[in-house]
Amino acid sequence: MQKVLQMLQDGEFHSGEALGSVLGVSRAAVWKRLQHIEREFGVPIFRVPGRGYRLESPLSLLNSDAIKAGLESQGWTSSVLDSVDSTNAEAMRQIASQPEVLPLVVLAEVQSAGRGRRGRTWVSPYGENLYYSLGLSIDGGDFPLVGLSLSVGLAVHAVLRDLGCADVGLKWPNDVLAGGRKIAGILIEIAGDPAGSCQVVIGIGINVNMRSGEAEIDQPWTSLRNDRGVLIDRSALVLSLSRQLARYLDLHCCEGFAALQGEWESVHLWQGAAVTLVSGLQRIEGRVLGIDKQGALRLDVMGEERQFSGGELSLRLRNDS
Ligand code: BTN
Repeated sequence: MQKVLQMLQDGEFHSGEALGSVLGVSRAAVWKRLQHIEREFGVPIFRVPGRGYRLESPLSLLNSDAIKAGLESQGWTSSVLDSVDSTNAEAMRQIASQPEVLPLVVLAEVQSAGRGRRGRTWVSPYGENLYYSLGLSIDGGDFPLVGLSLSVGLAVHAVLRDLGCADVGLKWPNDVLAGGRKIAGILIEIAGDPAGSCQVVIGIGINVNMRSGEAEIDQPWTSLRNDRGVLIDRSALVLSLSRQLARYLDLHCCEGFAALQGEWESVHLWQGAAVTLVSGLQRIEGRVLGIDKQGALRLDVMGEERQFSGGELSLRLRNDS
């Protein structure tokens, strides 16, 4: 499957004969395989008699060898898959079954059941974006989980900023926005005893090469390609994200989130904004004062400071902001 798409990913025409000889199959079998890919993964492929096949637009597929070598050099293992239900679910399965092989990065070209925060679906088209999960096995409560998702947000922010992404910032607790539109999200899942021995999966979705009109998402979104106007190398992005994660997780682990509180506030897009905090049916109106040393949101609610934390909370801007 991968091999034929690897040849086609440049977006140029390739003859059925050339594809068939690399794959070791007949021209008819090439056509069948491409039809299957189109149906199964929704990747549009054009067939022009006399010229051959080409993708509707170029892709940057994951280069599994380069990723494995790069991650190995920082002491991490990896699993690069063609398709999976959710990289978070897969990372959890893998670390639960072999806790000694860690840290482990799970990546996939497509997710059939990508998970977002608060029970939402994460749109995960084939070969377009980054579906990245880092699995860690933690023992004896020696790794602080408090504020972890905010530290991870700083790592994602640093990667996008270094790529020259315009106007990128964070929105509490862990949305990454560019030009006011969602460009990345973070979903941390924990199994076991958080005070003792547990498995932590840090799931990161970054909209990389998906273009406007290509996906129906129920909130304003953008991608690196929309922002930068060029096709982004997803394998290089995996490696820079892994380097930034290693750096921020080290700081987080050694010094705790408190050491990153100031940096986080400096890139928080809604510092000082008038907001509504939504928790289920409950709505609390206030003004953002910042965050505390644990990463909890500090709100001025009718002249009184209150702190809020928890994965089910979300913030909305109030119109009078
Ligand atoms: C959010 O809702 O903002 C969080 C989205 C997290 C999506 C990523 S994609 C990789 C990993 N696997 C999943 O199923 N979800 C996370």
